[in-house]
Amino acid sequence: MEGSLINPSSGLTDVKTSLEADSSVLQIWGGHSLQGHVEISGAKNSALVIMAGALLCSGDCHIRNVPKLADVKKMGQVLSALGVRLEQNGDTLDIDAREITTSKAPYELVTQLRASFFAIGPILARLGVAQMPLPGGCAIGARPVDLHVRGLQAMGAEVQIEHGICNAYVPGSGGRLQGAKIYLDSPSVGATETLMMAATLADGETILENAAREPEVVDLANFCIAMGAKIEGAGTSTITIQGVLKLHSVDYSIIPDRIEAGTFLIAGAITRSEFILSPVIPDHLTPVIAKLREMGVRIVEDGHNCLRILKTEKLLPADIETLPHPGFPTDMQAPFMSLLAMADGDSLINESVFENRLRHASELNRLGADIRVKRNTAFVRGVQMLSGAPVLGTDLRASAALVVAGLAAEGKTTVQGLQFLDRGYDRMDLKLQQLGAKILRVTQVEADAEYGLSLLPSEASIS
Ligand code: UD1
Repeated sequence: MEGSLINPSSGLTDVKTSLEADSSVLQIWGGHSLQGHVEISGAKNSALVIMAGALLCSGDCHIRNVPKLADVKKMGQVLSALGVRLEQNGDTLDIDAREITTSKAPYELVTQLRASFFAIGPILARLGVAQMPLPGGCAIGARPVDLHVRGLQAMGAEVQIEHGICNAYVPGSGGRLQGAKIYLDSPSVGATETLMMAATLADGETILENAAREPEVVDLANFCIAMGAKIEGAGTSTITIQGVLKLHSVDYSIIPDRIEAGTFLIAGAITRSEFILSPVIPDHLTPVIAKLREMGVRIVEDGHNCLRILKTEKLLPADIETLPHPGFPTDMQAPFMSLLAMADGDSLINESVFENRLRHASELNRLGADIRVKRNTAFVRGVQMLSGAPVLGTDLRASAALVVAGLAAEGKTTVQGLQFLDRGYDRMDLKLQQLGAKILRVTQVEADAEYGLSLLPSEASIS
């Protein structure tokens, strides 16, 4: 197949399938069990940061297993705007960042995609100067970038934030960052990634303490190591990086998405289904599988990188506290709430990573769930049945939670807010269809027309 060249206006051209989301909704007729096999895509959070990491490379980056996502498309547009050449072929992406023509990232894109801010590390490392718009607030919390900034300052960068732009430059030393010992107040995934990337080309040794241990941090480290970076300790709280002068061409495959896999496991549990998921790295799902087993869900390994979920008889309640890896992932909290809403008993969910990430509770209640929220805690009283209704996803994982709830709800659920779902799930509706779910993407206008009709009295009732 011919590859497609990317330019700043077009972005990744081959990411169209089911992504024209702004005016579409998902209609789900719940109560059907799923079966067969679902293929898990490459990890969103790895893909985004590895694309940023390609800015470090003075050669060609051939990246495989790239998921088809709206966020990946946007990240491609950010790179294009920096003068980088991208070519996409199926799920592989070639990035040539030999030339970075500007140190200034486009405001309108970075403000839409937090992960693009992480490119400040590689841009600064390559050019000695970077101008990055602040990523801005977000539906799930304030999400500041102070840890990124303080780390770069410790490495010798002058950083000033003015008019919503983070201006950074490296004075002296030929514009090269200096290795440093950096303690992160909290194990931020993004800050760990920004600073690890910056340190690969810095002068001397950088030690990141209290670093994030997420599998995507390890994936980024492995990608950088494959380009010739010297990194040790990724996946532990202390990462040591010896700076090198240049990074070289690489051929690299992204890990499977543990959050997508976890969401499909919940889809299986909530519909009492049996099916197979692959590829997955079971170790990346340890906290998720442990919690599902506590709830009475049976999951077995079925060959290499392959999981089978078995039919669940009874869903037991469970308490959840979100934590940095290897604790329970905040990105799985919303889909789990849907499952706990149907458990046989009461559960508690404490969201401790983000301050405003329980907004899906009220939409789940619209489907008949019984959930009360107080600050960052949700009290979930299990109900026997959910009933379909129109609902609105308020962020990426909230939208996924509503889709899985809709799979179990009696009657028709209409999920709006697909622009969020499509940011992070690679054709979720099509994958569910292949598993046998009754799910359809229609335009908002079509959905409104149907609801309008269903509100009319039926012929039989007109006397
Ligand atoms: C990444 C993931 C996101 C996931 C999150 C936590 C990507 C693209 N996104 O987001 O899916 O939910 O990790 O696992 O990889 N914080 C600060 N100052 C900072 C940075 C973070 O206070 O400079 C706070 C945040 O507001 C938040 C907490 O630290 O409360 C965790 O955020 P962080 O780990 O940085 O998340 P992201 O990297 O943004």
